[in-house]
Amino acid sequence: MSGIKTLGQFIIEKQADFSYAKGELSRLLRDIGIAAKIVNREVNKAGLVDILGDAGTVNIQGEGQKKLDIFANTQFISALTSGGECCIVATEEEDEFVPIDSPVSKNAKYIVCIDPLDGSSNIDVNVAVGTIFSIYRRKSTDGMATIADVLQKGTEQVAAGYVIYGSSTMLVYTTGKGVNGFTLDPSIGEFCLSHPDLKMPEDGSIYSINEGNYVHFPKGVKKYIKYAQVHDAATNRPYTSRYIGSMVADIHRNLIKGGIYIYPTTASSPNGKLRLLYECNPMAFIVEQAGGFASDGFKRILEIEPVELHQRSSIFIGSKKMVRMAEQMMTEFALEAGAINM
Ligand code: AHG
Ligand code: MN
Ligand code: MN
Repeated sequence: MSGIKTLGQFIIEKQADFSYAKGELSRLLRDIGIAAKIVNREVNKAGLVDILGDAGTVNIQGEGQKKLDIFANTQFISALTSGGECCIVATEEEDEFVPIDSPVSKNAKYIVCIDPLDGSSNIDVNVAVGTIFSIYRRKSTDGMATIADVLQKGTEQVAAGYVIYGSSTMLVYTTGKGVNGFTLDPSIGEFCLSHPDLKMPEDGSIYSINEGNYVHFPKGVKKYIKYAQVHDAATNRPYTSRYIGSMVADIHRNLIKGGIYIYPTTASSPNGKLRLLYECNPMAFIVEQAGGFASDGFKRILEIEPVELHQRSSIFIGSKKMVRMAEQMMTEFALEAGAINM
């Protein structure tokens, strides 16, 4: 056991790096880690208990909710409520943001945006799912926190992370000083540092996209897919196609091996499918901190000004060179169509 560093120990050790409300942010990260362990416990025995399948409800985005979506949502809100460091939770599973109004959270300084369970369509078939979270400072100084506290640009994030419930369970997070990954050791029930200072390869040879939607993709994306499939030994093409359908798992793999994940606009999702506040921004922050890049096809994800809670965005995220190449192709067609000026 010697040399093992737990998430709790690591957070405290790194606390000196935070510029603001150090103890509070440490406790908030710890609370998220605890909720993740509870969700992990349920995910792991999902087939044995009555937690698989549809809940019979639909969220604001018209998506059917799974029982585990609701369970994970409840666990994270409850951990953040009793922790006392968070004044608002904005979650995929609730129409409006959830103000935390408990005696312990009276002076809470942080906002959390969360996708409690990412990859819902994979839950029932034992494929990796995840949790994504993003943390902001509260901007307002008195009264109840408001929607303006939630609608901050991704560049304002103080921390972001994801949990992947996969062949092992990992928690990966950043506070803006690099990215570190922890693997849950079930024998001691602790996340232990396993991937210190994660770096994403600058280039890669994996592309991840739901190619079934090809016919609806913008021309730039079609061109990039064709580019990925051309033989060219010098640039390691054709690339390998890998698509799990859980954003967390797809991006986690690409982060380690090098690759690009794309969810563009389509006919059925003209603004993209993934949500800016609790999917795109946190993953963009992590990937950039690991040396990668995230774009909506034309501009940096982290600089998009959010105007609504469940706002969607297209996303091109991963190894920097791959994302830049895809952006170049998007721009080329947009210029041709007169959709943008340079
Ligand atoms: P969620 O389960 O939180 O709604 O997110 C699902 C997202 C993302 O995880 C995944 O990459 C993508 O939807 C898959 O969408 P398609 O099935 O359209 O490919
Ligand atoms: Mn999701
Ligand atoms: Mn989800």
